[in-house]
Amino acid sequence: MIPADSATPAPASTGVDSAFPPCFDRATWSAPRKLIEEDHVTIGVAVIGAGMAGKAHIAAYRVAPTLYESTLPDLRYVAIGDINAELGAATAKRYGYERSVTDWREIAEDPSIDVVSVVIANSLHLEVVKGLLEAGKHVLCEKPLSDTLESAREMARLADEASSIARIGLTFRRQPGLAAIRQWIDDGTLGKVLHYSGRYWCDYGCNPQGPMSWRYRGPMGSGALADVGSHLTYLSEFLCGDMRSVAGGTLGTAITERPLPLGAVVGHGLAAVSDDYEPVTNDDYASYTAQFDDCMGTLEVSRVAAGYPNALNIEVFCENGAASFHQDTPSQVRLYRHDDMPGKNGYRTVNLGSDHPYIAGGLPMDVSGVGFGQNEGFAFQARAFLEEVAGIDEEHSLPRNASFDEGVHNMEILAAVAESAADEGKKVTL
Ligand SMILES: NC(=O)c1ccc[n+]([C@@H]2O[C@H](COP(=O)([O-])OP(=O)(O)OC[C@H]3O[C@@H](n4cnc5c(N)ncnc54)[C@H](O)[C@@H]3O)[C@@H](O)[C@H]2O)c1
Repeated sequence: MIPADSATPAPASTGVDSAFPPCFDRATWSAPRKLIEEDHVTIGVAVIGAGMAGKAHIAAYRVAPTLYESTLPDLRYVAIGDINAELGAATAKRYGYERSVTDWREIAEDPSIDVVSVVIANSLHLEVVKGLLEAGKHVLCEKPLSDTLESAREMARLADEASSIARIGLTFRRQPGLAAIRQWIDDGTLGKVLHYSGRYWCDYGCNPQGPMSWRYRGPMGSGALADVGSHLTYLSEFLCGDMRSVAGGTLGTAITERPLPLGAVVGHGLAAVSDDYEPVTNDDYASYTAQFDDCMGTLEVSRVAAGYPNALNIEVFCENGAASFHQDTPSQVRLYRHDDMPGKNGYRTVNLGSDHPYIAGGLPMDVSGVGFGQNEGFAFQARAFLEEVAGIDEEHSLPRNASFDEGVHNMEILAAVAESAADEGKKVTL
């Protein structure tokens, strides 16, 4: 587990597991030392997967050195790997990477590449990450860690044995609004969480003509639950501490077959389809209740919630008040405190800006009201990874990305939800 950042320790009374690093706190942050001054090196970067999230990684490595002061070694943007040659080439040109390759092994074998993001279908993570770690590359792998718990555990074992760094991208903890809520829980503004309510509703799967892709294949639990439930579950522990049990697991498939695409499918996109259909074998919808040390919560995810393209919505109800975040308005959070003004009390909207995590000194215009979206989260995630690879100590870095062990823990919870769902919602202890 990653140790807590000593600059901003979490008070024991909040119930938040101190193993989670607290949020980046502007007040205690000072510019990191440049550790590679004398021994100047260049970090070679590659990304495997140029699809929806792949492009977010590819762009993020471009932006990462521009966040905060210039403390990273020079970066060299070496390669994009994608089996779709046309997409790989166009993406390399768009983002200024030197070349594209169709076989990820060329990236593993290239000695000029140090850092590789793996942003391809979950079922491919194990094979590719294994090859990269064996070649000594530092690996940032997308969530969920893998398609099965067994292969995720194998990846964690490989990461333990590796001489290089292996991390998993759980991007939303970089969201300033959610990081601010975590700070308010830690510093007593909100205090201990009494009740967590989280939902992640998406509509990328609501069109029955949406083409079959890797997202719709695999056992129950590998659909919406693994795809967006991995984020929601991780964030629940980020805010409430370790989960102890799950119950009421429910998994459902609303659209049971999908047409096969006639060409490549990228991300959630539509494509020309054939008249041939393939069964959808995993979940469009999932929900469960969670027991934490100090509170309970409900979590609900969907990929068929028409009209909600990306609706991550989180509420915490706490000892001293409450707060909520909605991805539709990512530069705002709502805050309520019991003791504000008796008789005139209620939720207020807080516009996120220089007083909140990640923003000050980080962005070109780091002032309130400029907005802060999901793409910025990838840039801060990449920056944290590069700082770790560059050997900048934790005290002078953004909080580290999650370890593969945390990725396994996340998947153990998802597996427990699937187990609960398979047995009429029984309680499963973690
Ligand atoms: N953190 C986030 O917010 C977030 C968002 C979306 C997806 N993801 C994760 O990112 C990963 C990729 O998802 P996506 O939506 O970008 O998928 P995608 O389908 O859009 O893209 C996958 C790409 O991988 C390529 N590909 C397939 N096999 C390959 C191989 N053997 N070698 C190289 N390239 C190959 C495909 O051509 C495609 O371009 C998944 O693990 C997903 O869960 C994370």
